[in-house]
Amino acid sequence: MKLPTSGWIWMNGEFVQWQDAKIHVLSHVVHYGTSWFEGIRAYDTKRGTAIFRLPEHIKRLERSMKIYHTEMPYSAHEIEEVCKETLRRNNLKSAYLRPVAWRGYAEMGISPLPCPVEVSVAAWELGAYLGEAAERGANVCISSWNRLPPNTMPAIAKAGGNYMNAQLMKMEAIRNGYDEALTLDIYGNVSEASGANVFVVYDGVLYTPPIGDSLLLGITRDTILTLAKDLLIEVKETLIPRGMIHVADEIFLAGTAVEINWVKSVDKQLVGNGTQGEITQKLKTRMADITQNGLDSYKWLSFVE
Ligand SMILES: Cc1ncc(COP(=O)(O)O)c(C=O)c1O
Repeated sequence: MKLPTSGWIWMNGEFVQWQDAKIHVLSHVVHYGTSWFEGIRAYDTKRGTAIFRLPEHIKRLERSMKIYHTEMPYSAHEIEEVCKETLRRNNLKSAYLRPVAWRGYAEMGISPLPCPVEVSVAAWELGAYLGEAAERGANVCISSWNRLPPNTMPAIAKAGGNYMNAQLMKMEAIRNGYDEALTLDIYGNVSEASGANVFVVYDGVLYTPPIGDSLLLGITRDTILTLAKDLLIEVKETLIPRGMIHVADEIFLAGTAVEINWVKSVDKQLVGNGTQGEITQKLKTRMADITQNGLDSYKWLSFVE
């Protein structure tokens, strides 16, 4: 994601110029990874700019913080309004929004509790997260790194520190010429990708790993489960053993940044016949009805007047 160099960022209650949105080098977050964040998309729909599932994202942010005994110093409503205002201030019709909260500067030590909670919201334009892999299909590997076991760091929190694990996966993938990595849980079942959830189609049934399988409870994941049920596609949230990845008919990644990105190959072996599958395509079309045409029967769009 290339970042812009100018614009407005909301930081601790006010809008500041892009280059002034700074923190102290001795902030707790810099040393101990103490942050929680969201990635949210706003779409330029036929009915105007709308933020996709905004309340659900802000709720998840509060929950990520709660696990770490940290209270958001602004109400959910305030942060939602800030997200909308950030788009307006920067004249963005479609964007990727990044609310982030962190523990700031006060004392040095592992306990974050003495350090103030700071919050900011930034937004910028974002195309396809995996670039040309959106069209040609992603070539993924199975990472040699495992996802975080549940009693180490809670994968359910979208916490900055968790992404050290994701970085190891992603760097390994890039260095070996892949677009993205799938990781396994410590038992060898498929968990998720470095920044997305994973879905597998096998004999017409849509599979995704269950919530306890070291993964982030993706809002896109939830969206797909809802759309699939309405499309009368059979869905199973169940453990996916590694072997199943090699014989799947379709695989796709699902997340706010990546949206729905079909997977062409895993460890250089083609998935199915190496083209985008029918169920993946159906779900993408349904998503486009919402994000492009602005159809909102699920009440998932927060329009920005
Ligand atoms: C590790 C991880 N898993 C899954 C997802 C997908 O979550 P969502 O659909 O809420 O963006 C993301 C992206 O936010 C992620 O970083």
